[in-house]
Amino acid sequence: MGSNQSTVVEQDGHKGRGRSRRASGRTPRRPARRRTRIEDVSDRNTFTQRLFSPLPERYDRLAEVLSMGQNRRWRRAMVDHVEPVGASLVLDVASGTAGVALQTAARTGARVVGIDLTHDMLRQGRRNVDAASQRGQVSLVAGRAESLPFGDGAFDALTFTYLLRYVDDPAATLAELARVVKPGGVVASLDFLTPPSPFWRWWWWCYTRLALPVGGMLTGGPQWFRVGAFLGPNITEHYRRHPVDAIVAYWRAAGIEDIGVREMSLGGGLVMWGRRAG
Ligand SMILES: C[S@@+](CC[C@H](N)C(=O)[O-])C[C@H]1O[C@@H](n2cnc3c(N)ncnc32)[C@H](O)[C@@H]1O
Repeated sequence: MGSNQSTVVEQDGHKGRGRSRRASGRTPRRPARRRTRIEDVSDRNTFTQRLFSPLPERYDRLAEVLSMGQNRRWRRAMVDHVEPVGASLVLDVASGTAGVALQTAARTGARVVGIDLTHDMLRQGRRNVDAASQRGQVSLVAGRAESLPFGDGAFDALTFTYLLRYVDDPAATLAELARVVKPGGVVASLDFLTPPSPFWRWWWWCYTRLALPVGGMLTGGPQWFRVGAFLGPNITEHYRRHPVDAIVAYWRAAGIEDIGVREMSLGGGLVMWGRRAG
């Protein structure tokens, strides 16, 4: 993975940096609603909804099992960048079953709004929010990352996980994400990565092409076989089209500065963070 001038690149096991900002206490322009009609869905959005709609019931358990417990570590590493900044209002994009939103709320004390494209994922997310007695602090809304229903600079911080592989134009989506963060606010993300080392990439390839679909089938049935078989090629293709250096450039073009990049678990995961310029 390459880097450029104002990019911090870290390997797994090293702490990232955080920045302290005062909380603004601002609220999103539009209030959270339980059911929102999503306008202008693209073909890719429709594909994504179909992929994720059957998964929510087993999602939380299988996301940990099939990532061999790494997802939990990676989430913590991402939220590490939000925790110190004193945010009072955080947006979690591609919030799914609200795992990141709940962790962010618990660790920061901030109000968290989670937004996601797939109603069934949000439905499970609401169950999780209720089970954690976090209804007062975490609200979930339906919507697209490509066109967020919030005003400019509405949030003190923003997280997004496993999102950019599901959008047509990652650079434009990043610009939209950055738009709703106030100047100086933190943006942090998490996604899979293809390991840079050829040795580990070979093992990763075997895992994603063989173990993941078979493990998905055995633990979750045909729907999880489908997602298990989809993931490896999707990750490979995403980084072929958008290498990490290009993604860093998209962040910068979106007006995010002090960008940091941390490879996780031998390069199987990628945590990024930065600060909205202003
Ligand atoms: C792998 S899940 C991750 C869920 C959650 N962030 C987590 O870490 O458990 C990816 C989520 O991204 C959502 N998603 C994909 N494309 C999206 C888009 N364009 N806008 C909003 N959400 C999207 C999917 O609906 C799905 O819930």
